[in-house]
Amino acid sequence: MRQRKGGGTSFSIERYKEVSKKLDTAGLAWEEVAASRLSKGDLFCLHYMMDIENHVPLYLSHLLVTRACMDPILTAFLACWNYEELWHGENLGKFINLYGIEFDSQDRIANVRANLGLQNSVSLMSTMAGSWMLKDFSAVYLTIGAINELATLTGYGALIRKSGHPVLKDLLGRIIKDERRHFAFYFNSAKEWLSGNDHAQRMDRWMLNRIWVPVGQGVKNLEEVDALALYLFDDEQGEEELLNLDEKIGMLPGLSGVKLMSKALYRARERVRKNPRWAWRLIESEAWAVARTKSPIGELTTRRSHADDSATAVGGGA
Ligand SMILES: [Fe+2]
Ligand SMILES: [Fe+2]
Repeated sequence: MRQRKGGGTSFSIERYKEVSKKLDTAGLAWEEVAASRLSKGDLFCLHYMMDIENHVPLYLSHLLVTRACMDPILTAFLACWNYEELWHGENLGKFINLYGIEFDSQDRIANVRANLGLQNSVSLMSTMAGSWMLKDFSAVYLTIGAINELATLTGYGALIRKSGHPVLKDLLGRIIKDERRHFAFYFNSAKEWLSGNDHAQRMDRWMLNRIWVPVGQGVKNLEEVDALALYLFDDEQGEEELLNLDEKIGMLPGLSGVKLMSKALYRARERVRKNPRWAWRLIESEAWAVARTKSPIGELTTRRSHADDSATAVGGGA
């Protein structure tokens, strides 16, 4: 059981534990970040991606309350995965700062979390209850993990293509290598769970068609999710990439022909058809740059509001 294989990918947890490490940025031309221009759409996507990478520790809290975490292979993976994702967020923040957009990473993270509100707790409790009541619930979030990782690396590939920024290409190319390993783990684990398990397959398909949302939705609102999807994928190549993504997920037992990411794009297009300003107005008005209003919860959960924190501020964006 230590070697999980299938779908053209293989994954060894022992090897992953050995090689897992902080993103290697040696030799990356940080000093040239500001030398190439980025569009408003590129910057919108970068902020979205950074916020979602930085959200991983809270997403992890949802996974750790599930019955699947009785499996030591899963918890070993999550321990390494969480650390790797941390450095994706850190480096995207550093890139944006070096490009010339100033913000405090810790404040931004605290504010994003503060705005999750009650919905985060409700979601956490329903995931916990669902996993303990329904044995095959694990298949659902392992599949969602696979979709999220594949969507993330596909999105990074699309941003490389859209932006044409050489340093961003280098940085995202390195992050994509991590995301591929994450995808391999989730995909193979989901496959293992679903193989020969008709009940799990039916439940997985049923749940995906009802509860699945694109990566980041919940932290971001629907219009923000649409803005990312439309900027990155609303052309022939982008649409094809999302169809390929669905096809890969459809290789999991019982999921043949499933349409998720492509359907999300079509729905976003439909909303723009009804309201042409939908989504694009966020990119145009630079909504990505606006620091969210800090709620009272935000003040409780961050130490940054104290005036004497300058001596302890470590590892900031740049
Ligand atoms: Fe990541
Ligand atoms: Fe990942």
